[in-house]
Amino acid sequence: MKPDVWCARSKACAVIDPVFDLDPASGHTSCRPVELIPSFVRERGLRLDWILDTHIHHDHISGASELRRLLGGAIAIGDRVGEVANAIADVYGLEPRFGTLDRFDRFLADREELPLGDFTIKVLATPGHTFDHLSFVVGDAVFTGDTLFMPDSGTARCDFHRGNAGALIQSIKHILDRADDVDLFACHDYGAGGRRVPAWQSTVGA
Ligand SMILES: [Fe+2]
Repeated sequence: MKPDVWCARSKACAVIDPVFDLDPASGHTSCRPVELIPSFVRERGLRLDWILDTHIHHDHISGASELRRLLGGAIAIGDRVGEVANAIADVYGLEPRFGTLDRFDRFLADREELPLGDFTIKVLATPGHTFDHLSFVVGDAVFTGDTLFMPDSGTARCDFHRGNAGALIQSIKHILDRADDVDLFACHDYGAGGRRVPAWQSTVGA
């Protein structure tokens, strides 16, 4: 299965976790990854219905607003994002929530369902890495965000913004409590074993 989330009949599509590049050394960001998405969408005649953020934190810089400006669509994120924003605000001395609420169109709760043409996107709360973290289930695939990386890279850290290792373990169990052939799409691959070309797809069995 390809990591494409779109309906061939209605042409409705979703984009999960469009993010800016960040150079940690300089602090500079680039919106180049987001600028590559419109050509993919337009070449296939798709209509962007949903822009889904699995989570946020200080170096996970969402490009959702820029993508909405380019293609339209509604931005959705977990309904606990305000708590994460408050935790970040505490660290950096910012206003509580610092404008978080007005940049999202919809806040999602666990087990909520979003229509996407002939498909349904099912929301799966997977806290641990951050406590607002969501995974998205589409057909026989789970988009795991940072809850699980490629199998040989493990999981995301859970030591900031009130992350919780115990919660992360429970979230991973929720994901792995599926058939071995269910596809998992991960946000990160750190090239374990010298793998040079990033991988993004594994399975529950793997
Ligand atoms: Fe993350």
